[in-house]
Amino acid sequence: MNKKTLIVANWKMNLNVAESSLLVHRLDKKIVSHQDIEIVIAPSMLVLQPLSKDINHQKFSLASQNAYFKDEGAFTGEVSFSMLRGLVEYGIIGHSARRIYFHETLEDVRDKVKAAVRNNIIPIICIGESKPERLAGETMQVLHDQLTTAIYHLTSEEVAKIVIAYEPIWAISTFDGEPSKPSDMQRVLKFIRSQIKDLFGHNIAEEIRILYGGSVDNHDVLAYLSLKDCDGILVGAASLNYEHFVDIVQKAYSLKHSKK
Ligand code: PGA
Repeated sequence: MNKKTLIVANWKMNLNVAESSLLVHRLDKKIVSHQDIEIVIAPSMLVLQPLSKDINHQKFSLASQNAYFKDEGAFTGEVSFSMLRGLVEYGIIGHSARRIYFHETLEDVRDKVKAAVRNNIIPIICIGESKPERLAGETMQVLHDQLTTAIYHLTSEEVAKIVIAYEPIWAISTFDGEPSKPSDMQRVLKFIRSQIKDLFGHNIAEEIRILYGGSVDNHDVLAYLSLKDCDGILVGAASLNYEHFVDIVQKAYSLKHSKK
């Protein structure tokens, strides 16, 4: 199956409207659109609306970094997926920063996934174990719990479209930031696909896109994208540096090209 390589730029709580516009213009000048690569930008919530008017939609899709699971109501300070409907194609859900700093539970993530799907937004569900969990040999159990809770209520048709991002917490630059060994990650990505297969069958498991994230930069991106079960990457810090991000995209192009 020839899936598009998905490259997601998670800008986190960085860049105001003017800075975001500047970065996207710089990216637009350097990045050539390519039918085999999909680039998704996840700016701050405030920036989504102005950026959507500004960007070249042939080259870039937009994602929210979070949203609330209710469609409307007295939830002061929240923004719902129904408000984002038509504005973003994707929604990052369950990022470890949300789980750790904002205490999002497995059930919160499940409800947000449901809300995104209900509003025609493709969830990018982040899962990943902490360092103590890893050292205790609990990685697969943690991933199993996070994954199955997040998706068990979806239909196979809905699951086929979602994106899973495996982001070991210890490898994320803003936490421990200890880059993983790319070759060690294939085993985990394969495990995630096998979990989908157990729940939804072989075809859906092959169709679904699984990303890797955690301190990925322009130097190691090829090592991750070359893994058999890696369909793309979620990039944080390196996506704020336009030269590094352009290099990441170009390397992804060259890998796709070399496989043709
Ligand atoms: P990083 O962030 O690339 O800076 O480690 C990835 C993420 O948190 O999504």
